[in-house]
Amino acid sequence: MPLVRPQTLIARLPQSIARRLAAPGLSSIWLRLLGNRARIDFWNHLGCHLHPDCFVGPLVKIVSGTDIRIGPGSALSGRIELAAWGPISIGRNVMISDEVHLLTGSHAVDDPAFTGVVAPIVVEDNVWLAQGAVVLPGVTIGEGAVVGAYAVVPSDVPARAVVVGNPAHVVRQRKQFEPTFIPAEFLLTHGHRRP
Ligand SMILES: CC(C)(COP(=O)(O)OP(=O)(O)OC[C@H]1O[C@@H](n2cnc3c(N)ncnc32)[C@H](O)[C@@H]1OP(=O)(O)O)[C@@H](O)C(=O)NCCC(=O)NCCS
Repeated sequence: MPLVRPQTLIARLPQSIARRLAAPGLSSIWLRLLGNRARIDFWNHLGCHLHPDCFVGPLVKIVSGTDIRIGPGSALSGRIELAAWGPISIGRNVMISDEVHLLTGSHAVDDPAFTGVVAPIVVEDNVWLAQGAVVLPGVTIGEGAVVGAYAVVPSDVPARAVVVGNPAHVVRQRKQFEPTFIPAEFLLTHGHRRP
């Protein structure tokens, strides 16, 4: 009996079923059964634009929309939440660690109708969002910046800045260099459970 490749099955999946399979509790179970490439195909089938050379782990939770772009070499590994009420754009060679939340939606808290507010998030090339970082709507993280563990980022981060804390503030600038580290290659070579 000929084997059917997961990619072939995904390409044929009706959107109504694919959306159900993407539900956070469910996707974190069955996406473990797929390889990285098939996971990328699944999210792209739903409308995301994930580069084939990025790494998206099985516990990554994509909610509220699929206007998400991820560039080559970037890696998202762990229980990461991409809340895509608005667009999320992640550049090349970005590393996103466990428990990071990118939140594009909020509420107008002085409005009696509690209107929803949506603004895009941009993460430029070579950024590291360390464990537990939270990025709020409308924020751009500049090229090569580092967001420290459990920082909450309410406003733009300059290129190559290292920011920590809540609210995140700059503690220093990174040195200028041409990075040789490609997060997706590292994750695919060493496995996504190793530090
Ligand atoms: C952001 C980080 C990379 C900074 O490293 P660094 O450039 O070597 O900076 P330093 O350790 O010299 O710290 C600079 C200052 O920021 C503070 N700081 C560092 N990280 C912090 C954090 N996550 N939250 C709050 N403050 C922090 C330090 O206490 C220090 O303060 P001081 O100048 O008042 O003494 C690192 O602290 C960090 O958060 N790493 C992430 C770890 C992680 O997520 N691991 C899991 C994935 S592998």
